[in-house]
Amino acid sequence: MAQLVPVEPFDLIIFGGTGDLAMRKLLPALYHRDCDGQLTPDSRIIAASRGALSRDEYLAVVETSLRSNLTEGDFDDAHWASFRKRLHYAQADAFSHDDWNELVELLNGHDDCVRVAYLATAPSLFGSIANGLKTNRLISDSSRIVLEKPLGRDLDSAREINNAVGECFREDQIYRIDHYLGKETVQNLLALRFGNSLFEPLWRRSAIDHVQFTVAEDLGVGGRVEFYDGVGALRDMVQNHLLQLVCLFAMEPPSSLDQNAVRDEKIKVLRSLKPISAEDARANTVRGQYGEGAINGSTVSGFSEELSNKSSTTETFVALKLEIENWRWSGVPFYLRTGKRLKAKHSEIVVQFQDVPHSIFPEQEFNVSPNLLRIRLQPDEGVQLSVMAKEPGPGGFDLRPVSLDLSFAETFGIRYPDAYERLLMEVLRGNPALFMRRDEVEAAWEWIDGIIEGWQVSKQKVESYVPGTWGPAASAMMLDRDGRAWHEDD
Ligand code: BG6
Repeated sequence: MAQLVPVEPFDLIIFGGTGDLAMRKLLPALYHRDCDGQLTPDSRIIAASRGALSRDEYLAVVETSLRSNLTEGDFDDAHWASFRKRLHYAQADAFSHDDWNELVELLNGHDDCVRVAYLATAPSLFGSIANGLKTNRLISDSSRIVLEKPLGRDLDSAREINNAVGECFREDQIYRIDHYLGKETVQNLLALRFGNSLFEPLWRRSAIDHVQFTVAEDLGVGGRVEFYDGVGALRDMVQNHLLQLVCLFAMEPPSSLDQNAVRDEKIKVLRSLKPISAEDARANTVRGQYGEGAINGSTVSGFSEELSNKSSTTETFVALKLEIENWRWSGVPFYLRTGKRLKAKHSEIVVQFQDVPHSIFPEQEFNVSPNLLRIRLQPDEGVQLSVMAKEPGPGGFDLRPVSLDLSFAETFGIRYPDAYERLLMEVLRGNPALFMRRDEVEAAWEWIDGIIEGWQVSKQKVESYVPGTWGPAASAMMLDRDGRAWHEDD
């Protein structure tokens, strides 16, 4: 494992510090980094929230939540006894900036350490919290602010948030999180592309037939149903996670890992996305919503039942065909799909290479399948390359695809850190390379807004699908029309 260097002493203020994200992701991530000795003894984590809680009450909430959110065996009483010393609580309402005394007092006299404000709240509060930090004089030249997604619901609202936060923080102090960029396998995409000379000559239209991106979840929307209704899979997953994957996959080689070198290449991809018009939307996008059904033997409610039987046109599944208009990718379709209550929690990128130009195996001509490179993002992270091989036997030439299969878990044999562990450390170190720059977020929204407009103009229907499947039939038909099919193992 790479050597872990402790980060400089810090005060990390988590707004929304008692919320779901803080409990499920941020505190477990910080606990793990603390166990590995990356947090200096004087570094503090300060939860800020509207409720009136004493420090002891807050510690009790965190202890219960860590016990249930950490993987079994990871909670250690002795370690908790030292981790809890870092935790503090301050009551702070996002809109009443005069009442931030508890926070101001806690931070008083701690101006020398790195100060990070993490906004794990609704985006509608981002501008006001940034302003509260400014009016209470809690921002210095070295302070940073982290913004959780969703950053708005369209280009206009994203701009509004960016402008409001930009009035208080410089762009280089703003860290916009897309947690997919903190995932080990997503970073491995960079290692695969730029740590090997093998792939680059093939990474283009002359060798690749098409690329498939699948980010599937078996869980439904669950407790977030009220939030999710009116948002949908396109805004929740495609605008950020899937487009970031497309960027890392399709960008030109950056000259270094420097924050702007990578982000400058990503933005070029976003700006080369062919807009999807209302006419294209009908042929090249599919919207779905899960109905009632069963997954792994358990009955599950449909999306509208979860919404107390309210009818809704929000999509819980989306599939689309995207084109990148540049020399490298012109004419290569990128098929994207993501959804809830699908067959399994399964994310991967599949690259289908072109057919051999001429088969020398005439009687077997239908048996020569194109090579596939599968980059498995989760679970069972790894890379698999399928190649044609001859089946052993004294007669004939029976070919079949076989796999060169690399499983990262087997190869490296260590626990994969959660994306938030990596991203929090990057913020504390002051390295924004794995975060989205303002222009990226806005370019992604611009493209997504076009699709939403297309859906409205073409009155695109939301098709119901059965839980535990790969989504509505129209998704398979979209590829079928192009003479292709989703690569699914069964
Ligand atoms: C979040 C979305 O950004 O990503 C959720 O808002 C989704 O709807 C989640 O479930 C998926 O993340 P992961 O890391 O479980 O693939």
